[in-house]
Amino acid sequence: MPITIAIDGFSSCGKSTLAKDLAASMGYVYVDSGAMYRAVTLHFLRMDIDINNIDRVNEALADLRLDFRNEGTHQRVLLNGQIVEKELRSMAVNKLVSPVATLSNVRAELVRQQQHIGRDGGIVMDGRDIGTVVFPNAELKLFVTAETQERVRRRVEELKSLGTPTPSKEVEVNLTERDRIDSTREDSPLRKAEGVVVIDNTNLSREEQADMCLALAKLRA
Ligand code: DC
Repeated sequence: MPITIAIDGFSSCGKSTLAKDLAASMGYVYVDSGAMYRAVTLHFLRMDIDINNIDRVNEALADLRLDFRNEGTHQRVLLNGQIVEKELRSMAVNKLVSPVATLSNVRAELVRQQQHIGRDGGIVMDGRDIGTVVFPNAELKLFVTAETQERVRRRVEELKSLGTPTPSKEVEVNLTERDRIDSTREDSPLRKAEGVVVIDNTNLSREEQADMCLALAKLRA
């Protein structure tokens, strides 16, 4: 029976690396729910939407189409038919995405789409509310964490590889602020779901983390 694997945790904790590894080993679909919040944010930036204006937010949501294309372990996100992967990781999106993710109308629409994508199981989805809200009955729920300095180092590397080197202090301020907003917002704050397994990967290699979680997934499949 294909199961559902829900992975939550703070940003830059290696959730998506783990999710991709698990999906590849299990032959499942991987869905990066953070990319959906990022795509909505990019859409709002492009349409110059004031996120405090709920009518404009709703208009923009009505004009939004998200599609995913899985190519091997690589996932392409399409915003209204256009590939936008690189823009999704920009600092402009990094700065606005957590405030956008506090909006209940945005969350309701994305949760609906996520539940639809995962309706038959055989899916690994990562985010902030996957084990608590999107798939509370997931067979395996993981909460991934790592020390802040290690997370900053990873995000600095990612921004460098995208051709937008950013000082680590700026990255740290952004990460810490996003953690604060994500875990204190009213609608679906980041929490450890009931029955979750906590993985601190500060000192784990990618392979060690994947092997440990694959063993848990196989026990529940
Ligand atoms: O995982 P990420 O850094 O790409 O996520 C971007 C933002 O989206 C993050 O600050 C919080 C939000 N998010 C959310 O609220 N719920 C999710 N399921 C996934 C992401």
